Amino acid sequence: NEESLTDLFSRRHTYLRISLTERCNLRCRYCMPAEGVPLTPSSGLMTASETSRLASLFVSMGVNKIRLTGGEPTLRRDLVEIVGGLSALEGVDQVGMTSNGIVLGRHLRDLRGAGLTHLNVSLDTLREERFERMTRRSGKGLRKVLAAVDDALGLGFQKVKLNVVVMKGENEDEVLDFVELARDRPLNVRFIEWMPFDGNVWSREKMEPYAETRARIEEAVGPMAPTTRGRGEVAKDFRPEGFAGEVSFVTSMTEHFCDSCNRIRLMADGNFKVCLFGNDEMDLLGPLRRGYSDGEIAHLIAGAVRGKKARHAGMFELSRAPNRHMVRIGG
Ligand code: GTP
Ligand code: 5AD
Ligand code: SF4
Repeated sequence: NEESLTDLFSRRHTYLRISLTERCNLRCRYCMPAEGVPLTPSSGLMTASETSRLASLFVSMGVNKIRLTGGEPTLRRDLVEIVGGLSALEGVDQVGMTSNGIVLGRHLRDLRGAGLTHLNVSLDTLREERFERMTRRSGKGLRKVLAAVDDALGLGFQKVKLNVVVMKGENEDEVLDFVELARDRPLNVRFIEWMPFDGNVWSREKMEPYAETRARIEEAVGPMAPTTRGRGEVAKDFRPEGFAGEVSFVTSMTEHFCDSCNRIRLMADGNFKVCLFGNDEMDLLGPLRRGYSDGEIAHLIAGAVRGKKARHAGMFELSRAPNRHMVRIGG
């Protein structure tokens, strides 16, 4: 098939990440500058029906897993309808969402009911004053995030994960507190290496390499047995002895996983990105609005996928390469 999501390195792209908004109700330092980022005018953002048209086209090309991101996806008023529409698509097995958890609690039940299967919540500190420093928003938010995680665990999601970006001098001393959250909860706590994006003042010195984080954890809880990893998973998963949950690591910087990458991205402004890093993007919203047929848009998508590089450029090159701000990509 000419119009395929398989690239020149035989990687099949079955996992589509869709960013639903560029806006966020937090201002995390590792993600964006204090003043926020210039936003696309609303006329340039995909409507729910445009999103759904493109999503079903991707699904017809082989996508079976969709994850909704942002910005913060819960800021979309039509989120539950969007989830319902995507989960009803023939061929979609999983619909996930990544949220900062602040206003998640009030939508959880409806989202689950609409067919959301996988939930990842981002939280980088368990201390109010640090939450305030790291997110540049009220420390009161922390309580809400933790409550939403616990509520989610009772709602029958296939998987609930907690994302922790580890930064030296910010939160690396809380790693063991986070690990404890997985002792009695069926929660997957994931430590993420901090990645460089525009405007996030990345530095090698503040990034804690996975091996260091893991060593500190194993010193406390003993050697951790790896659990099996599916193809296309970005995390290495472990289950410490006696734990209900899991501890994982996303090692983009020190041990990249590009060889088994299965991800592609559709961003809120209708641009399509074949790799998280780099500025290779293709506008799909313009052609859609100009009346392109599904076949013509599929042709554009397939062309972009064929242009995907074997792997990202490496830690030092990435820290200099231009890209979007993380908040406008969605991870
Ligand atoms: P699932 O595997 O579906 O649970 O999701 P995920 O872990 O890919 O998504 P999530 O939004 O929770 O992101 C967790 C971390 O992985 C974030 O730091 C993302 O930026 C990062 N990440 C997600 N996809 C990729 C990818 O393709 N490449 C790299 N290098 N990092 C990624
Ligand atoms: N490096 C690694 N992870 C990041 N995230 C946001 N910015 C970065 C970064 N620079 C995480 C968020 C969220 C996920 C989508 O990506 O914390 O969990
Ligand atoms: Fe895939 Fe690019 Fe991430 Fe590597 S850096 S895993 S190629 S999205």
